[in-house]
Amino acid sequence: MAIQQQSIVDRSYKLLVLPGDGIGAEIMPHAIRVMNSAVGDSIGLNLEYADFGGCSIDNHGVPMTDETLALAQDSDAVLLGAVGGPKWDDLPVNRKPEKGLLGLRAGLDCFANLRPALTFGPLSQASTLKSELVSDLDILIVRELTGGVYFGEPRGIELRNNLRTGYNTFLYDESEIQRVSRVAFELARKRSCRLCSVDKANVLEVTQLWRDVICEVHADYKDVELNHLYVDNAAMQLVRQPKQFDVIVTGNMFGDILSDVAAMLTGSLGMLPSASLNASNRGLYEPVHGTAPDIAGQNVANPLAMILSIAMMFRYSLDAPQIADSIEKAVQSVLEQGFRTRDIMPIDSTDECELVGTDRMADEVVSQLKD
Ligand code: IPM
Ligand code: MG
Repeated sequence: MAIQQQSIVDRSYKLLVLPGDGIGAEIMPHAIRVMNSAVGDSIGLNLEYADFGGCSIDNHGVPMTDETLALAQDSDAVLLGAVGGPKWDDLPVNRKPEKGLLGLRAGLDCFANLRPALTFGPLSQASTLKSELVSDLDILIVRELTGGVYFGEPRGIELRNNLRTGYNTFLYDESEIQRVSRVAFELARKRSCRLCSVDKANVLEVTQLWRDVICEVHADYKDVELNHLYVDNAAMQLVRQPKQFDVIVTGNMFGDILSDVAAMLTGSLGMLPSASLNASNRGLYEPVHGTAPDIAGQNVANPLAMILSIAMMFRYSLDAPQIADSIEKAVQSVLEQGFRTRDIMPIDSTDECELVGTDRMADEVVSQLKD
């Protein structure tokens, strides 16, 4: 049997699955079902599972064990649900579940975080913005993920002049800016050849350097139109006239904030996938949403962001764009047929929509893939 399998499957990949906490753990098995039915026997996938985040703190005392990091480094891609929750909120910052996530991103050197904000046609009513502002929206945020103020040293809380004083360091060296801006320019080239870099160069030296380096790298991408916005203006423009943007490149913290804004333009954080890539295109794939402890365990969470993250994995790390396309198409058809989890259910629309739970939403995607 095994030998026969070998001859059918000419490619196989190692995936590490980290379901995590809250709705992360809830959506993952459904997303894996979708993945398996999209792949059939066209590619061999060897899955390993590990605790990560809060459940790893509970079972192993740390948010990510060394073994889990080693497994991740030895995998072609990592699928991650979400981490964190009220149970672990009172732990000090360096022992929280989120520390595991930052450690994993850094440990895999996944410096380029791709967060597409795409409005699926049937969902343009689901946005809090007027539908004409967001219909057919297609923005790609490229967020630097392993540097900036999230990682800068020194950092801490200590007594200074007898006052508790907290501090972090917002730091980038030019190589960190160069590599992420190259990824963004390359992606802009494959899209509409427009790139907007977001900084706060009017106040922060580190982002003056950001702007200078992006301008230097631009010399190699003259066919791409580059403009710069301060982050406050960018946030405002994103809700004022989002369709002016195509690819946005920015640092870690600004990207964190702007990607939540962009997510809501599309209707729900429950729809947004992400890919975090290192220099060899190995990656970490996770939905942009968090663990949503308030709805965890109720079978109401939207599994589509995780499912779409898996589609990104096939496109960016596993070189199987046809599988990515088939998953994205299946999601599109399920939405066209009117299936909605609670987060994307129109409140007062006359559209014929059917409210479904997490499991049923995934079932519908699976049945589309079989058609
Ligand atoms: C995200 C999240 C994380 C971040 C948290 C959970 C550490 O908000 O992926 O956007 O800030 O990067
Ligand atoms: Mg965030």
